[in-house]
Amino acid sequence: MRLKTEPLLDAATIRARVAEMGERITADFAGKPLVLLTVLKGGMVFAADLMRHLDLDVELDFIGVRSYDGFHSQGRIEWTYKPDVDLQSRHVLLVEDILDTGRTSKAIIAWIEAQGAAEAALCVLLDKPSRRVVPVTPRYTGFTIENRFVVGYGLDYNARYRHLPDIYEFDDNPC
Ligand code: IMP
Ligand code: MG
Repeated sequence: MRLKTEPLLDAATIRARVAEMGERITADFAGKPLVLLTVLKGGMVFAADLMRHLDLDVELDFIGVRSYDGFHSQGRIEWTYKPDVDLQSRHVLLVEDILDTGRTSKAIIAWIEAQGAAEAALCVLLDKPSRRVVPVTPRYTGFTIENRFVVGYGLDYNARYRHLPDIYEFDDNPC
């Protein structure tokens, strides 16, 4: 499989949008210490850029779940990493690379709420609303895209391509 020659979203476009999102989040959470909870591994690149646009009191932590096809038949997810920070009464911003069926985010948000967080806001770089299976609406969305499998800027296909600065589709779309 080969990537398309032209990126779907190039680094400059992503950079500008991430900066805008950071400004919005900074305004919305003014005066509230924030826990930036990054979903491993895909959210790492986005979170690293986004947090440098946050003029807030930010505590960074991570949450790990088994990726894409890592669901048991009942739709439960497998945890690979749980945050160290106590989420009780905290304002949590959950940072994800992409919102697809919504199962991952829904399960993580339920878990954050069960920890007694004051709020759990979802921030995604990409959203594929046509793929949604469970209802989840992000508070912050970078780009809404069609039903295409994309890689780069943190997003992988079989653990590859995460390091690419731009976001690409495949020539032959595996969706
Ligand atoms: P959801 O639980 O179906 O919403 O899936 C979200 C997760 O699936 C993301 O965090 C990604 O790891 C993975 N995923 C969904 N779509 C894509 C894609 O187009 N490229 C790479 N990973 C994807
Ligand atoms: Mg992921």
